Amino acid sequence: MAAVDQIKNLIKSYVEDDDHRFFATAMQIAASEARKGNTTIAQELKMLIEKARKDKSTAFVESPKTVSLSAPRRELKELIEVFKPRIDLDDMVLSPEVQESLSKLIHEQKNWELLKKHNLRPRRKLLLTGLPGTGKTMSAQAIAGELGLSVYIIRLDGLMSKYLGESIAKLRMIFDAMEEHRAVYLFDEFDSIGSHRDRGQDIGEIKRVLNSFLINIEKDNSNSIIIAATNLPESLDKALFRRFDDIINYPLPDLKQISKTIKKATKEFLFSEKPDFDKIAKLALGLNYSEITKACEEAIKEMILSGSLNLNSLEIEKSLSKKAPLKDG
Ligand SMILES: Nc1ncnc2c1ncn2[C@@H]1O[C@H](COP(=O)(O)OP(=O)(O)O)[C@@H](O)[C@H]1O
Ligand SMILES: [Mg+2]
Repeated sequence: MAAVDQIKNLIKSYVEDDDHRFFATAMQIAASEARKGNTTIAQELKMLIEKARKDKSTAFVESPKTVSLSAPRRELKELIEVFKPRIDLDDMVLSPEVQESLSKLIHEQKNWELLKKHNLRPRRKLLLTGLPGTGKTMSAQAIAGELGLSVYIIRLDGLMSKYLGESIAKLRMIFDAMEEHRAVYLFDEFDSIGSHRDRGQDIGEIKRVLNSFLINIEKDNSNSIIIAATNLPESLDKALFRRFDDIINYPLPDLKQISKTIKKATKEFLFSEKPDFDKIAKLALGLNYSEITKACEEAIKEMILSGSLNLNSLEIEKSLSKKAPLKDG
């Protein structure tokens, strides 16, 4: 049996995310078992440790150390949220312009080898702008879904508050990760570094981070897709715009897109009577996709909880009206 101190060490290093100490302790245990003559156990432990080490170094999510050897993995974990999305573009309702821009990126990405043969590179740096709830974050997921990639959402607020002073080094770490792991890197709520607004933080530091971002995105030569999204494009520094391959503006849905959103959100259910989607859509004009989807969900919940088997379009109308207090009618 391993000494109590060794077990304590194992637990501590696990809690503190200290891989180095964890494996060193495990190796010590294996060695002491070997000294006691328990060679089979020692051998088994060694094999387990080697396998665990190897697994860790191939999985970025588990061990961002492969990204930057000096970066403790806890720090990247706090900055990056990983998603393996299961949606694609068909799950979204988009204006023709947005649809075209996103399809273009996906098409070029899917055919990058062909482009490369002609010394061309697929587009891969997008700036998404538009009101909240119009599908910017969802688009990053859909692009990743289409390309079978993960989405790494970078928590900029975390970067700017928690690591003030070290944010540039952290940003560099993220750009290093792009080279090692092809994925969709989403800088959501990008205005927190893309602007010069005073958020009660050190303005000098924000400017330095912004500059560092500009340099990094310009230099970046990876195969990853970089998406910056913001609700506040007017607050962004002008120097940013030309760093992107495409700038896509997300509008609120028009009547046709609202109808489509409601049909999509309710497609698994039957209505008690044929709904007049045009009439319902008019009630939702001015709302964003998120509010419309939520109104449908509320009606679905109401149906389920009341024991009914059919959706009632009146319920949807009611939920939509509640979300539009400032509108006439
Ligand atoms: N274009 C869209 N088509 C379908 N659903 C959408 C669309 N945009 C937003 N939604 C719905 O609203 C939710 C929030 O959207 P999100 O992408 O987070 O908006 P944003 O990032 O622009 O604020 C999504 O999870 C989805 O349910
Ligand atoms: Mg968003």
